[in-house]
Amino acid sequence: MSDWTKSDWRAKPRVQMPEYTDAAALSETEAQLRRYPPLVFAGEARRLKKHLAAAGRGEAFLLQGGDCAESFEQFSADGIRDTFKVMLQMAMVLTFGAKVPVIKVGRMAGQFAKPRSAPTEVVGGVELPSYRGDIINDLAPTPEARRPDPRRMLQAYTQAAATLNLLRAFSTGGFADMSRVHSWTLSYTDSDEAERYREIANRIQDTIDFMRAAGITATTTHEFSTVEFYTSHEALLLEYEEALTRLDSTSGNWLAGSGHMIWIGDRTRQPDGAHVEYARGVLNPIGLKCGPSMTSDDLKRLMATLNPKNEEGRLTLIARFGAGKVGDNLPRLIRTVREEGANVVWTCDAMHGNTIKSSTGYKTRPFESVLREVREFFAVHAAEGTIPGGVHFEMTGQDVTECTGGIHAVTDEDLSDRYHTACDPRLNASQSLELAFLVAEELTKRRHDAPNRAAV
Ligand code: PEP
Ligand code: CO
Repeated sequence: MSDWTKSDWRAKPRVQMPEYTDAAALSETEAQLRRYPPLVFAGEARRLKKHLAAAGRGEAFLLQGGDCAESFEQFSADGIRDTFKVMLQMAMVLTFGAKVPVIKVGRMAGQFAKPRSAPTEVVGGVELPSYRGDIINDLAPTPEARRPDPRRMLQAYTQAAATLNLLRAFSTGGFADMSRVHSWTLSYTDSDEAERYREIANRIQDTIDFMRAAGITATTTHEFSTVEFYTSHEALLLEYEEALTRLDSTSGNWLAGSGHMIWIGDRTRQPDGAHVEYARGVLNPIGLKCGPSMTSDDLKRLMATLNPKNEEGRLTLIARFGAGKVGDNLPRLIRTVREEGANVVWTCDAMHGNTIKSSTGYKTRPFESVLREVREFFAVHAAEGTIPGGVHFEMTGQDVTECTGGIHAVTDEDLSDRYHTACDPRLNASQSLELAFLVAEELTKRRHDAPNRAAV
């Protein structure tokens, strides 16, 4: 991409980024990050793009999920393991429904920077600069803690590297072996969903036993003993992204070395802005959040800028309208995509349009609204004859009480029990599994409605 350099974004209007006051610390940090190895490699990003191209054609399905914001304080091997486990469980359930491969992409190993609705917030009666994610400032409610510190980028890099190292070990080191399908169940997910999962796990186990008896063993079948697990995050902090950008010597293209897939948030997707300028130049798969304010004109410009060659798998449109608003927004954008003949993967983020304040003061999301948005997303695609390519959730393997509802019925009063998110409320393991069953049902319906596509 000869008309692009990794620092061109600096000449464009930027929003949602910190004003660093310590210029020397910033440039030292950037120099250090430039010397560090990239976290991911170009071949991996290209491979993910190929899988996403299949999702765009209805031959695969994307499951993207993880924390709203990764946290320095809550960083732990158990936390990573449990989210990984829930995603494996969800992927199993979805594979059963969709009968196509499920592409697993974590909001992990780099999901640190957060856009905020206001530059300041009031905590305990005191107005402070907003918390913008651990890579930028600290959650503690003091003016010093909230001052953006560029050195935090180094800690974020280190944590991302350690997270990815563990994910790679889990993916290929035996943990994800399909014959361990029962062991991914978390001890506290003791619900109808867990029982339904056990039934699926039994059927998988039977199949594996049968194959073993027939001489095909899981240990000799690579596909059964390992999974591909990819990382993603919002490319919000462009100093960090630029410093980790690397030239791929095989293709001569640029790679965002910070994660396999990056996305542009709903608040930073200005067609002439800094974030779009950065993302257009890297070879990674790009996600683009589409909220209710996305116009057809903007979408046309964004598709032309971010995917000028109309490459399959390059662009994932992440619809996040809110329950009750999908019907007013998704059809018009689907038509825009169709008019342009653009290749995109449509996925549904059923979280970010459904955030409310509970009666007890916590930021929460009613599980019912999340389910409803997913149903609406599938219904619109069925009506338009287009392909629902995936789902995007904020979720954790930890037993938190952050979203209300679900089989275990978290109430407004329960929210204070185990409310640990540094930013938006996440689905807990039971709610995530319940949701996976709903998505699987929708996918099964779709297969039955479109028998030709199921044959792929
Ligand atoms: C997010 O995904 O955490 C986020 C902030 O989303 P959006 O840009 O869609 O609001
Ligand atoms: Co969020």
